[in-house]
Amino acid sequence: MIRAYVNFALIKYWGKLDEDLRLPYQSSLSFTVDNLYTDTEITILNDAKKDIVIINGVENPKESMRVINYLNRLRKELNVSSYVKVISTNNVPMAAGLASSASSFASIATAFVKAFKFDLSQEEISRLARLGSGSASRSIYGGFVVWEKGTDKTSVAKKIDVKWDEFRIIVCLLDKNEKKISSTFAMEKSVKNKELYNKFVVASEKDYNNMLIVLKNKDINAVGTIAEENSERMHEIIEASGIKYKNEESNYLINLVKKMRSDKIIAYFTMDAGPNVKIITVESEVKKILSYLSNVETIVCKQGFDAKEVKH
Ligand code: DP6
Repeated sequence: MIRAYVNFALIKYWGKLDEDLRLPYQSSLSFTVDNLYTDTEITILNDAKKDIVIINGVENPKESMRVINYLNRLRKELNVSSYVKVISTNNVPMAAGLASSASSFASIATAFVKAFKFDLSQEEISRLARLGSGSASRSIYGGFVVWEKGTDKTSVAKKIDVKWDEFRIIVCLLDKNEKKISSTFAMEKSVKNKELYNKFVVASEKDYNNMLIVLKNKDINAVGTIAEENSERMHEIIEASGIKYKNEESNYLINLVKKMRSDKIIAYFTMDAGPNVKIITVESEVKKILSYLSNVETIVCKQGFDAKEVKH
């Protein structure tokens, strides 16, 4: 069984230059965590005429569709023909903006490669994961990871050499329900807003380059500031296209994070394609931050691991 961990983007991937190859307009940077993950077991079905896909214990044709399309893609890429049985289980609420597609497709890609006994590098597996879901390219590695824009061959994720044991992300779980608008769809709409989108890409590249510098210095205030601004810019362009992921509770939490800062606590926020807020901080602040969040369900995340084999 392969376990791949969720990653949260500090510099977001938001928009595809090539939809089929899932090539991004901008390089992104993320943190793969230790306690949110997907486990996937893939076995080859000899003589079968279709795949069997069980997600979180159920065989649901609608949910399986994207996975089956992806399996077809993997078969084509790796030149194999057998159908497979996929059993994939998330310990994360599905599609709640907790980036579960990242850990899902990273674990499926890795488990598929293993089932057919291919000897591929992590970068090659990252490319395959990217074809399933862009952000999945980054979940091949634990810790701080970049996914570089580029061509089909070069646009893969790589681990960056930053060891920062004190870094934390606190997930505030506001809504565990299925999100209504997929990031794939929302991104397409953002890209169509050409003028604003071009500005977003330029700002994003600047953020990415600055983030690489401040991360190396482990400057939490600079890391948090850049990540927060980058996330806000993404939500601005999303909202300009008529989609809104933030709800009242998200806004309440955003203001609470700002209040923490005015109380001299190191706390910054980032959000993805859902209402949940993630707080960026370091270990010494966690207790103080949690004292503000007594009525919110939280998950404190540390640095996680590469996608890897685990025993049942
Ligand atoms: C907001 O990777 O889910 O989480 O490639 O269409 O599957 P697809 O998109 P996906 O987008 C994630 C967007 C994000 C930001 C990020 O993780 O970088």
